[in-house]
Amino acid sequence: MIRIAVVVGSTRPARRGTAVARWVLDTAAAHPAVADGRASINILDIADFDLPLLDEPVPAAYGDYAQSHTLRWSQAVAAFDAFVFVAPEYNRSFPASLKNALDYLYAEWLHKVAGFVGYGVSGGLRAVEQLRQVMGELKVANVPTQVALSIYTDFTSTNPTDPTDAGTCTPAPYHAERLAQMLEEIIVWSAALAPLRAEAQPTTA
Ligand SMILES: Cc1cc2nc3c(=O)[nH]c(=O)nc-3n(C[C@H](O)[C@H](O)[C@H](O)COP(=O)(O)O)c2cc1C
Repeated sequence: MIRIAVVVGSTRPARRGTAVARWVLDTAAAHPAVADGRASINILDIADFDLPLLDEPVPAAYGDYAQSHTLRWSQAVAAFDAFVFVAPEYNRSFPASLKNALDYLYAEWLHKVAGFVGYGVSGGLRAVEQLRQVMGELKVANVPTQVALSIYTDFTSTNPTDPTDAGTCTPAPYHAERLAQMLEEIIVWSAALAPLRAEAQPTTA
């Protein structure tokens, strides 16, 4: 079974990220591979880990973690084969919360697979492009198909004038088709990279 995590990349109160992750989870449940048990999908919310700005004395590539929050995050990430990063665009990039969470670990990311659901004024395209660069350094294979949601057309708010009303994620139908294609790519690549992952188990998880 390919274990996929939907990583919620933003952490601010009233974020849209949780609504997007919920849409990904609900839509993915209908994917044949998830329905027939070849893949599982769960939400992994960075906000649940209370990670401070990186406070490990030794870079993650050494696998020598000193902090209990790092060990917790390590164990959570190590349990998955692949990730769907739910990433908003902040100032033409992805949120610092997500970069910080990525920087905390190393071996836990190696030879895994990522897809992206970006969102923002322009579909989070620039956030995802920058994420792809970081994935390269962490040896995460990132699939080409991505989902790009607009905060103007793919969300429904009860009060659009309230900036703290995240609303619900209600994407146009073609986004679900893109998500299904992305999941297919993730599952195929995750299976292909399984032998490499087996050789690169984290030392701390
Ligand atoms: C600090 C900040 C910077 C932002 N910069 C951009 C930007 O450069 N481009 C864009 O398309 N949207 C930008 N936005 C809009 C966000 O993409 C949008 O508010 C989104 O809902 C944020 O994700 P979140 O609700 O999960 O925090 C920015 C929002 C914030 C909070």
